[in-house]
Amino acid sequence: MTKILRTIDEVHQQVNLWKQAGERIAFVPTMGNLHAGHLALVEAAAKTGDRVVVSIFVNPMQFGENEDLDQYPRTLEEDVGKLSRYNVDLVFAPMVSEIYPESVDNATTVEVPKLSGILEGECRPGFFKGVATVVNKLFNIVQPDVAIFGEKDFQQLLVIKQMVSDLAMPVEIQSVATRREPDGLAMSSRNGYLNDEERVLATLIHACLEKLVEAVLAGENPAFAVGHASHELDEQGFLVDYVVVRRQHDLAVPEQDDRALIVLAAARLGSVRLIDNIPFTLS
Ligand code: PAF
Repeated sequence: MTKILRTIDEVHQQVNLWKQAGERIAFVPTMGNLHAGHLALVEAAAKTGDRVVVSIFVNPMQFGENEDLDQYPRTLEEDVGKLSRYNVDLVFAPMVSEIYPESVDNATTVEVPKLSGILEGECRPGFFKGVATVVNKLFNIVQPDVAIFGEKDFQQLLVIKQMVSDLAMPVEIQSVATRREPDGLAMSSRNGYLNDEERVLATLIHACLEKLVEAVLAGENPAFAVGHASHELDEQGFLVDYVVVRRQHDLAVPEQDDRALIVLAAARLGSVRLIDNIPFTLS
């Protein structure tokens, strides 16, 4: 039976009982509007934990002024229905005032400077401060032994790992590979904003990244291959924020000896901003 709790005190009480019983708590933080990508995180949590907690909180601190905070889909009832089929023990669905009692602007914040100023952080100033702050707070509330994140938000995953390491937080971070639609589009709550025509075009992001990986593996000059991918998206009507080849562990520009690489892209299709990535290894 999935329990839904709204307050920090209630979650603390429940979690303390589990901790006293020596149970391992696995946590999946989400903003709701759950799709198969989220459910894969929940499955991974169930494999590693005795208890599974999912949070559903549309975090205002990680949305910029002109972003889709008001429009972001809030589907708590359907989400809880899905989670109860996955034997989730607890859904934490707080109000904004529970997480930010002094208002979002007056909240104490957490920043991970090095990784937060590039790529997504450059396009969405304040985004990673919002993510790190809320994840830190959620960790303090849920006190998980392990937390699971999706690799679709690869930079977010690195930011969280960095925060956990820098602040010596007693939580293990696990990740799950990106879940895709049959045509390759990475699953995302924001895909629901795409109209029919945009939905067809959206698959090009993944297709371009796949070609980019192939080109780099075939020894093509990465800068040339990136230019080609970016141009192709541009021609199909995308507004490209970035297409890049980086190294996996810190998203810096790769050096000669780096082998574990990743291609990442962010582009806007109409009003919908899509991101995707493919990690790969040079032989
Ligand atoms: O990836 C998300 O859904 C959010 O950024 C997260 C990690 C739940 C923090 O609000």
